[in-house]
Amino acid sequence: MLFPDYRPRRMRQNENFRALIRETQLAPDQLVYPLFVVLGKKVRKEIPSMPGCFQLSLDQLKAEIKEIKDTGLRSVLLFGIPEKKDEIASRAYAKDGIVQRAIAEIKSSDKDLLVITDVCLCEYMSHGHCGFVSGGKIENDATLEILGRVALSHARAGADMVAPSDMMDGRVAEIRETLDEDGFEHTPIMSYAVKYASGFYGPFREAAECAPQFGDRRSYQMDPANSREALREATLDMEEGADILMVKPALPYLDIISRLREEFDHPIAAYQVSGEYAMVKAAAKMGWLDEERVMMECLLSIRRAGADIIITYYAKEAARLLRR
Ligand code: PBG
Repeated sequence: MLFPDYRPRRMRQNENFRALIRETQLAPDQLVYPLFVVLGKKVRKEIPSMPGCFQLSLDQLKAEIKEIKDTGLRSVLLFGIPEKKDEIASRAYAKDGIVQRAIAEIKSSDKDLLVITDVCLCEYMSHGHCGFVSGGKIENDATLEILGRVALSHARAGADMVAPSDMMDGRVAEIRETLDEDGFEHTPIMSYAVKYASGFYGPFREAAECAPQFGDRRSYQMDPANSREALREATLDMEEGADILMVKPALPYLDIISRLREEFDHPIAAYQVSGEYAMVKAAAKMGWLDEERVMMECLLSIRRAGADIIITYYAKEAARLLRR
């Protein structure tokens, strides 16, 4: 059917028609809001490169959780900034560690909120790398046991789901086994299966105080040039027992989300990272972009590419807008 018989504009003439044929939907249920938790009292410190996002102390969580629930969101992703960093990330799996205490705090004020925890070592290591370092190298296998311990300590503290973001080989299998052995066979793993070595993490490293003190993360995170490798990474994690596969960052990697969507039946998550958020915030501040519009367009694009779940610093703002 060709013009003038077929006129695509017929179905665009007003919002009723547009809504009727809209192919992709965005809902608060699909959004996850990241939270940065710190020690201390009455801390509510805005992250300079991420306006609207805060480092929060434990006493601030109750009010924050209420606000999050009021927007219609159901889940958060926790990151912790510990009181001290060392060479073995000991505060990452401490029973009274910052994330472990935050989980307890959140669950005591609202046991219904889905609490996901980031399982990584970079915030807890003095050198800022995601693994155990020996002789200037990031050791894969020596890191696995620590990651298993971290995941287990989160589950014991009451986390609903763990999300390993370290990119060590074999960590999903190790975490699955560790959880199962301790009776947490029902705790799902959302794996950062396809995580690129990206410049878009810059603002996060300020928020989580985890910039590497030497070198970079290119020996463990993926090369941005590769897409076939993404399928191998996702296959491995799926076979090791991942329940959700994540792609990160999101907008510069829509092709990867789309490929994973075609190849896998598992739920797919995408992480709209700190740099993606900061770019829109900065341009909006300059008056160069309509923030609401661009925020929704980015989120919708990530959904259209095939993501079921989006982790985003815009979760609260987007959820509020969706409920209006
Ligand atoms: C920890 C981790 C990072 C992010 C999530 N988990 C930083 C990194 O890998 O350097 C980035 C999140 C963001 O930029 O919003 N490994």
